[in-house]
Amino acid sequence: MRPLTLSASNPAELADDVLVVGVTTKGSNDRLIVPDDKMLSRTIRRAIESSLTMVGASAKPEQLTKIPPVAGVSAEMILAVGLGDMSEKDFGPENLRRAVGRAVLELTDNPRIVISLPAKTPDEVAAIAQGALLGAYRFEDFRGVGTTKPKKAPRSITVVTPEASDRHTKEAVRRAATVAKNVWFARNLVNAPPSALHPKELAEATQSAVAKLPIKCTVLDERALKRGAYGGILGVGQGSANPPRLIRMEYSPPRPKVHIALVGKGITFDSGGLSLKPPKAMETMKCDMGGAAAVIAATLAIAELKIPARVTTYAACAENMPSGTAQRPGDVLTTYGGKTIEVLNTDAEGRLVLADALVRAGEDEPDYIIDVATLTGAQMVALGSRVSGVMGNDAFVREDIERASETTGEQFWQMPLPKELRKSLDSPIADLANIGDRMGGMLVAGLFLQEFIPKGTPWAHLDIAGPAFNEGEPHGYTPSGGTGVAVRTLVQFVRDTADSNRT
Ligand code: BES
Ligand code: MN
Ligand code: ZN
Repeated sequence: MRPLTLSASNPAELADDVLVVGVTTKGSNDRLIVPDDKMLSRTIRRAIESSLTMVGASAKPEQLTKIPPVAGVSAEMILAVGLGDMSEKDFGPENLRRAVGRAVLELTDNPRIVISLPAKTPDEVAAIAQGALLGAYRFEDFRGVGTTKPKKAPRSITVVTPEASDRHTKEAVRRAATVAKNVWFARNLVNAPPSALHPKELAEATQSAVAKLPIKCTVLDERALKRGAYGGILGVGQGSANPPRLIRMEYSPPRPKVHIALVGKGITFDSGGLSLKPPKAMETMKCDMGGAAAVIAATLAIAELKIPARVTTYAACAENMPSGTAQRPGDVLTTYGGKTIEVLNTDAEGRLVLADALVRAGEDEPDYIIDVATLTGAQMVALGSRVSGVMGNDAFVREDIERASETTGEQFWQMPLPKELRKSLDSPIADLANIGDRMGGMLVAGLFLQEFIPKGTPWAHLDIAGPAFNEGEPHGYTPSGGTGVAVRTLVQFVRDTADSNRT
C-alpha cells in the first residue's frame, strides 16, 4: 500500500511531480472553473482556468487534461480532471471519488501526486482519499521481461485540505484507506491466474491475512469436508486435481450489536465442468471467486476498523473442472444438511457450493445472512456489467444493501424472486434440480439459494457476475480486471446495521 498523507500546506508550493485539480462548469454557463479548495490561491486558479480554456479542456466527468505548470506552481505538470456541472445534484462524494480515481489511474512512471480538490465535509475528503487509493492500484505480479510497459504505481499521494489535522477528517480518511486497502486485497485475489490460486492457496492467503487481526480462521480441507458431508462443495470439486476448501472466518468483538453471516462463492476457475463452457466464456472465469474475495476482504476490513458486529464468514472454494472423476449431468448429490440435488448442468456449480455454505452459516444462528456470488450470466443480461443484483427474502435487508451501495458509490439494484419460477427447479428424482427456467436465470438462481436459508432469517443475495471483473477499459477508480466490487458495500452495510442496532 502506497502511503497517503493529508496536508494543509499550500499545494502550489509542494514540489511534486503532478498537481491534480478539478475543473467544473456552473449551470448553462460553460466557462471552465477551477473550484475553490480553500488551498490554491485565486490567482493561481484563474491562471489554471485560462490555460485550460486555451487548450480547449472539458469539465465532463472524468475528462483529463494535462497542462504545464502555471506561474507559482512548483509541480512539473498539472492534471485537471472534469467534475461535471457543480450545480447538478449528483455532485457529491462519489463524483469526487471517481474523478480523482480516474486521474490517478492514468498516471504512470511512479509519480508523486498532490491532489487539490474542493471538499466540504470529512466524508468528501475521505472520498477523495479513497478514490486516489483505489485508482493507484496496479497488478504487476506477473509481468516478465516483455516489452509492454507496466503502469507504475504512484510513489506518494498527498491530499491537501485545510482540515488536515481535524480529528473527524483524519478518522474518516483512515477508515476510507483501510477499506481501500482491502479492496486491493480482493482485486489481487481475483486477478491472480487460476493456476496460482487454487482453493488451497485462497485459503492460505486468507489465513496469512488474518494473522494480525482478531479473526479466527478455520479451513476445512477435502477430508474434513467428506467427514462433514459437504456434498455440494465436494461434488463441484471432485473433477479437479486441486481439492476444495471451506474457509470460515469469525470476528467476534466484545458486546457486538448484531451478528451477520457473509457467504461467498469461491470457484477459483469455472470451466463449466462436463457441461463445458465455450473458450471465449472461459477467458475470464478466474473471476468466479469474486464473491469469496469480497466477503473475505470485507471481514478483514470490519475487524481492522473494530466495527461492533459479530461477523461469521464462509467462502466455499472449489475448482470446477471436467475429468474422469468429475460429476456428470444427471448425478444426484446430498448437500450439507441433507437436501438432495439433481445436477443437470455442471456449469450451474455456484449454487451447489453455496448450498452447503448457506446451511452451515445458518447453524451459527446469525441475525442476517448476506451471500455474494458471480452466480449467473443472466445477471449481466439483465443489469449489465456495472450494476449488481440484490435479491432476498426481506425488504428491509434489500433496502439496507441498496442504501449502503448508494453511500459507497457501488451500484446495486433490487430484483424480485417470483414464486412462480420456483417450480421450474423441481426434480423428478431429487429434492431439487440445479437448473430451472432459462428466462429470468438470475432470479431462478436466487430462488434456488433461498431453499437453503433457515426460515425466518433475513437474507440478501448479491449477484456480482458482471461487476466483479472489468473486461473493458478502466473507468473512474475501477481498473481493468478484478474490481473488488461488494467489499465497500458490505463494510458499509455491516457498519450501518451495527449503528442502527435494530435487533
Ligand atoms: N460463473 C458463472 C456465471 C458467470 C458468467 C459469471 C459470466 C461471470 C461472468 C456460473 O457458474 C455459470 O456458469 N452460470 C450459468 C448457469 C446456467 C447453467 C443455469 C450461466 O449463467 O450460464
Ligand atoms: Mn458455471
Ligand atoms: Zn461459476
